[in-house]
Amino acid sequence: MSRFYITTPIYYINAEPHLGHAYSTMVADAVARAHRLLGDDVFFLTGTDEHGQKVERAAQKAGMPPNRFADVVAAKFRDLLPSLHASNDDFIRTTEPRHHASVQALWRRVRDRGHIYKGEYAGWYCTVDEVFVPETQLVDRRCPICGNAVERIAEESYFFRLSAFQQPLLDHYRRHPDFVTPTVRRNEMMTFLEAGLDDLSISRTSFTWGIPVPDDPAHVMYVWFDALTNYMTAAGFGSDDAASQQRFARYWPADVHLIGKEIVRQHAIYWPAFLLAADLPLPRQIVSHGWWLMDGAKMSKSKGNVARPRDYIERFGLDALRYFVFREMVFGQDANFADEAILTRYNADLANDFGNLVSRATTMIHRACGGRVPAPVASLLGRPDEQRLQEKVARLIAQVRDAVTVFQLSSALRDIWEVIADTNRYIVVREPWKLAKAADRQDELATSLYVAADTLRVIAELLRPFMPATAERTLTMLGVTAEAASWATLAPGTLVAGTHLGDTSPLFPRIEQTVEELRLMSNENSNPPTVPDAVPASPPAPPPAVAAAPAAAATGTITIDDFMKVELRIARVLAAERVPKSKKLLKLQVDTGADQRTIVAGIAEAYEPEALVGRTIVVVANLQPAKLMGVESNGMVLAGSIDGGPPVLVGFDRDMPPGARVR
Ligand code: MSP
Repeated sequence: MSRFYITTPIYYINAEPHLGHAYSTMVADAVARAHRLLGDDVFFLTGTDEHGQKVERAAQKAGMPPNRFADVVAAKFRDLLPSLHASNDDFIRTTEPRHHASVQALWRRVRDRGHIYKGEYAGWYCTVDEVFVPETQLVDRRCPICGNAVERIAEESYFFRLSAFQQPLLDHYRRHPDFVTPTVRRNEMMTFLEAGLDDLSISRTSFTWGIPVPDDPAHVMYVWFDALTNYMTAAGFGSDDAASQQRFARYWPADVHLIGKEIVRQHAIYWPAFLLAADLPLPRQIVSHGWWLMDGAKMSKSKGNVARPRDYIERFGLDALRYFVFREMVFGQDANFADEAILTRYNADLANDFGNLVSRATTMIHRACGGRVPAPVASLLGRPDEQRLQEKVARLIAQVRDAVTVFQLSSALRDIWEVIADTNRYIVVREPWKLAKAADRQDELATSLYVAADTLRVIAELLRPFMPATAERTLTMLGVTAEAASWATLAPGTLVAGTHLGDTSPLFPRIEQTVEELRLMSNENSNPPTVPDAVPASPPAPPPAVAAAPAAAATGTITIDDFMKVELRIARVLAAERVPKSKKLLKLQVDTGADQRTIVAGIAEAYEPEALVGRTIVVVANLQPAKLMGVESNGMVLAGSIDGGPPVLVGFDRDMPPGARVR
């Protein structure tokens, strides 16, 4: 049994988890599950990166001591894992004592081998990415990675002799062409290496939220030195007990560090250099994926354009979200995250193609064969349609196995869905519903339903890494209960005739609502965001739970011209009524000075409709119309709210006429 150690990045805890983070975890999970199915001894690690100036400042802003703040936010990352069905074997926090010991042990090893010296650092630092930025790479005094302002630092610092590792790293890259994938990232790193390496500042004295440097506690370690070491900590490094040491011997080096493309340099240059300096084995592979974009920009907390996994799980179910992210993102490239695309894939691929196939096949077996998998007739199995399908299924098993182990999740799913389409076509060709009515064609009926059920069983087994719950449910409907799930013996034609089917239940009921209606439903059900400054009283388009617009500039500020694009006007409420079946929505008829229009506002829990008539309000007059619970809304009403509490309408201290602009 070979062992397979896979890691996700450990996530910064300055913000709550978003879909970008969840994606890394879900991909690592799918690959870990596939390796388990292949019989490997898998160790799958994820966790949180809790030190550094960024977290220290976020804690200050939240008015909490950093350790308390770290506990609260790290719990959100940890709590998200079960709802993603993550099958991680460990969750590491860099604030744990085991990690403290491990990082200090690594520091000592590197120092004792002469690769750390004390000097003075003067330069630019980006606290968002926690990186030093060479002057030549600044873009208008901003970080080239995230666009945020950098800070000038001048302080005593320990340096790591990174420059000494240029040649050893180049040699390693040449000896291991797959060390960094995809190739585009490997090439970037080779170019970076060939240009020569500067020594790296690896300690700071200007803040304290970090792991102290051994024998010099005025310094805390550079957060990346600390963070990268997590991968060894969890494998047992730095611990004196024999069991941990055995574990380290078994699981280190890691097979794959799965990361996003923005942190390749730290993983593919700094980390292997630290390990070479410490005389420790290097990870086998650094695999990087692309970014989820929202309106063309990287989804990230600092831009404010994040999707919350919870919202999508609520709306579509976890497996639909997993399917979408694996299928939609060609691994390594960027992809756009759009609600319309999820809805389309849900209804087309999941409800129509797969869900209907499962329910059609199992329902027919219940009706025509008394709920037991019928026995096929060998001669009929030899017909071209049956042969073709079974050969394709056999090929599919190999294709999926090969693709998933090299992270090609999208192509694995595409291939699975091709066979789903073939199976649907096969059923249409064989027309078992007609065969069921012909007493002399029962052999054909049995064979066709056997082939369909047998194919579905293989498909469900192959779906295990991607959509674990769906795979289980499908197998249960087919009556297959594996003691230990395994791909070792998976082959077409092995479903046992006579197997009793379980009850059929719909896997992916079709969603008839529009994207807007779905957003609204989850707004109605979801908890308020944790720390909102103000919430719009009308469901905004798009609402914050789905896709807050990215800030215009990377600075997070907008120009006066940007602001003036929003036409805020005074309006008077002419009529108000509740929107049927909605707890939160009121339908308002308003006079904006220029016209009379309908606006749907999410204020029903705070205002009685009658009390609003005649009242002066402020509306966004040039918002694109949106349909909310079937009612077209032509604008948005402004209100404030404390910590997501009830909305309070914006008003004036004297009477104002409808139509006046607010600015
Ligand atoms: N703490 C560091 C990693 C240290 S690893 C020793 C860090 N944390 S992070 O929270 O900012 O990001 C972690 C990872 O989240 C990224 O590398 C990436 O895998 C994932 N993503 C964050 N935003 C993302 C997208 N918009 N799209 C896809 N993945 C993204 O960097």
